[in-house]
Amino acid sequence: MNGKTPIIIDVDPGHDDAVAIMLACGSPSLDPLAITTVAGNVPLEKTTKNALKILSLIGRADIPVAAGASAPLERVLHTAEDIHGESGLDGPEIPDATFAADERSATKLLADTIESSPEPVALVPVGPLTNIAIFLRERPDLKENISRIVLMGGSIGLGNTTPAAEFNIYVDPEAASEVFASKLPITMCGLDVTHKAGAGPDRREKLRSIGEIGGIVAEFLEYFAGTYKEIHGFDAPPLHDPVAVASIIEPSILKTRPMHVAVECEGELTRGETVCDLRRVTKKKPNAEVGVGLDRECFFEILYGALERL
Ligand code: BDR
Ligand code: CA
Repeated sequence: MNGKTPIIIDVDPGHDDAVAIMLACGSPSLDPLAITTVAGNVPLEKTTKNALKILSLIGRADIPVAAGASAPLERVLHTAEDIHGESGLDGPEIPDATFAADERSATKLLADTIESSPEPVALVPVGPLTNIAIFLRERPDLKENISRIVLMGGSIGLGNTTPAAEFNIYVDPEAASEVFASKLPITMCGLDVTHKAGAGPDRREKLRSIGEIGGIVAEFLEYFAGTYKEIHGFDAPPLHDPVAVASIIEPSILKTRPMHVAVECEGELTRGETVCDLRRVTKKKPNAEVGVGLDRECFFEILYGALERL
């Protein structure tokens, strides 16, 4: 035990996933024990390669990375090259990774790490929830050594992949449904809060002044801003995934409300919608703390500080 919060991040990098990894590694209060990868923004081989490259870049080849699911539980993989480019991390050139992925599967690495941790571990999934659902099916006995799940996904309001659904939940709604039904403490950082973490030109300029890693993050965001502008019509790409990590570093930045969240797996127009019972009309017991507000200034200060430390 070192006084830090042990976490495992499950990622599909993805520009904002990359920044989430950097934020976790630059935070003195977090102990990232492992990274697991999942197919999402781009296919699994690329998300794994990207996670390895980011950790190599910031000198954290000591953190094991294991590849997980290459496809959603029941669906054909839907990817987001339109947002993140063909590599998943288009933009600046990043050197090749200096280390290889662990030979274990993501679920085995999750199990080994959680089992051997003297303290309960927080899971931070910021991609489709496939790995987490498979892991919870395989090892329900390890739930007791999971402190909580802090996920990026979903929305109380509108979606970003369809009018109703956010990308991570849209890609694997069945997995998301299982995770929300897991009875573990869940914090959902959905679009309602992550859209408050938009990195406009001023933020990118500030990031550029924070040394080499800040400069690379700024370049990521320039690329991300270009595709966001083309597709969504605005030039301040949201740092979705870092919001989940930052809310563990400083819980006060995220305002949440308890509510029951169900995931639509059937709807023709609403696949992957997170149906959030904000007004308690179903009388169902809340299964998540859902983000409703974000202290944007504090979020960016935490991010700048972490990048300075890398
Ligand atoms: C989520 O989708 C992905 O493109 C991002 O990495 C983020 O996890 C936002 O909807
Ligand atoms: Ca992601």
